[in-house]
Amino acid sequence: MADMTVEFLGMRFRNPVLPAAGPNVRDGEHLLEAAEGGAGGLLSKTISVDAAPVPMPHMAAIRGGFINTELWSELPPERWLGKEYSIARSAADEAGIPLIISLGYTAQEIAQLAPKLKPWADALELSTHYLGEDPRPMIEAIDAAKSALDVPVLVKMSPLGREMKAAAQAAKEAGADGISATNSFGPAFGLNVETGYPWLGGKNSYGWLSGPALKPLSLRCVYDIAQAVDLPIIGVGGISNGKDAIEYIMAGASLVGVCTAAIMRGSGIYGIIAREMEKWLDDHGYPSVEEIRALALPEAAGEARHG
Ligand SMILES: Cc1cc2nc3c(=O)[nH]c(=O)nc-3n(C[C@H](O)[C@H](O)[C@H](O)COP(=O)(O)O)c2cc1C
Repeated sequence: MADMTVEFLGMRFRNPVLPAAGPNVRDGEHLLEAAEGGAGGLLSKTISVDAAPVPMPHMAAIRGGFINTELWSELPPERWLGKEYSIARSAADEAGIPLIISLGYTAQEIAQLAPKLKPWADALELSTHYLGEDPRPMIEAIDAAKSALDVPVLVKMSPLGREMKAAAQAAKEAGADGISATNSFGPAFGLNVETGYPWLGGKNSYGWLSGPALKPLSLRCVYDIAQAVDLPIIGVGGISNGKDAIEYIMAGASLVGVCTAAIMRGSGIYGIIAREMEKWLDDHGYPSVEEIRALALPEAAGEARHG
């Protein structure tokens, strides 16, 4: 049986498959379900200084994926600090896996929130989804997180108008310890032909694309980032089976995140994907998941070809 454990920024994951931030990890109970469903580690829904005012309807399944206008957590931070993180921490400890806490967005908001996360967080993931194209707010957010708490800080890349290699380099220079890539893409739009109304509510009825349609776009971002910086990567976008996850690991990711497939198929999906990966590795004679990491990158591919 292939070794599925991953050492990542000083943390030990029992396999490479984590939840990505979304309704699949919207509270402590869902994080407990993710641990029971076989996730290699936990990652919680993004919180900010206030509860998010989420427009309705805010999710729609479309062919090849999903569009949503969900923002950050609809629960106020006090609720996470008072209850949800304790449930998640116990679930992580019970399973012997790490807990990464996602938060956003500006440096001021992160400076306010991050110190309060100390009792629960093994690492932080900063969402940059609403920070725009200028890298400075991201750099300031990293700085605020690094100053607030002595745990690894990952930055989650939002692909909107950003050149990934430059953004990853800016994140590294600002002191980020790792990168998650990517968030959902957009803006996107869809409508119901029977009613003539858009699927989603909110301003413009625009949404963000996730799910299988996103995979080649996000995978390209991971491939670019892995060549641009030597930071460890969580690959996210359209992963719904073991082979999808294997592609991300070969493109340079160390761990993978799953959101839409978990919304559609439930929290057992993390363990299913991990077992599919393990079977693929066994069938192909690889002794560990680490063996295939970055295999598709030009240097590694060259070494493999010639070595
Ligand atoms: C309904 C929904 C809510 C999401 N909420 C968040 C969030 O709060 N924070 C975040 O960083 N990403 C959020 N995402 C993005 C996902 O974590 C992920 O990056 C993206 O959907 C691509 O992965 P997937 O194809 O597996 O869904 C959300 C995605 C969806 C579909």
